Amino acid sequence: MLAEALDVSTRVGYSRPGLRERLRAATAAAHRRLDAQFSSFDLTIFSGYRRFLQASAAALLPLEAALVQAGVDTMVPDWLERARSTAITADLARLGSAVPPAMTVAPLTPHGVLGTMYVLEGSRLGAKFLLTAVAGAADPRINAATAYLSHGEGQRLWQSFLARLEAEDGCDEDEAVEAAGAAFAAFEQAADRA
Ligand code: HEM
Repeated sequence: MLAEALDVSTRVGYSRPGLRERLRAATAAAHRRLDAQFSSFDLTIFSGYRRFLQASAAALLPLEAALVQAGVDTMVPDWLERARSTAITADLARLGSAVPPAMTVAPLTPHGVLGTMYVLEGSRLGAKFLLTAVAGAADPRINAATAYLSHGEGQRLWQSFLARLEAEDGCDEDEAVEAAGAAFAAFEQAADRA
């Protein structure tokens, strides 16, 4: 969608090719597919927005649980500021929706944590865009349930995550890339199911 047009905004803090560049290239096709899938939800109507949140939660919740299980807080010290499980669960509750069955997610290796974080933190860029679509919704129930999409607004979490990624020394890049692919796959499957 707007990926190329908005490129500049995500290049803040980007100074040399490295892990981020590899992650981005390896997941570009998956991102395009996901963008198309998520764009098919009509976020301005109640049922469409609820299905979007359900699909997002079905992937986000098990991925964040796997991150915690793998000790993400030791690798990403501000993890608690980044976690969005509480936000999305609250949004679903506001829409009267149960938490959907979770997608199956494999345990994460240490550098798999970084690859998974790359995908989840990157999804904030899409969320920012989707929030503008939601802002046009006439149904007030939708606008009262945007804790997930607006999470971390103004905190420059993506930029600080990129700095964290670039500071990583001795990363097993294959592990990170594999986990990023698996994280995208979890979102794709969840969107298919929705
Ligand atoms: C309709 C839904 C979405 C839209 C419109 C969208 C849009 C965007 C845009 C505009 C960017 C900036 C691209 C760039 O500057 O190169 C971006 C980056 C990114 N998005 Fe999405 N996105 C969506 C959904 C998602 C989802 C659901 C995920 C992951 C679960 C995701 C993961 C990422 C990642 C990892 C990046 C960073 C790429 C990089 O390294 O520059 N996106 N997205």
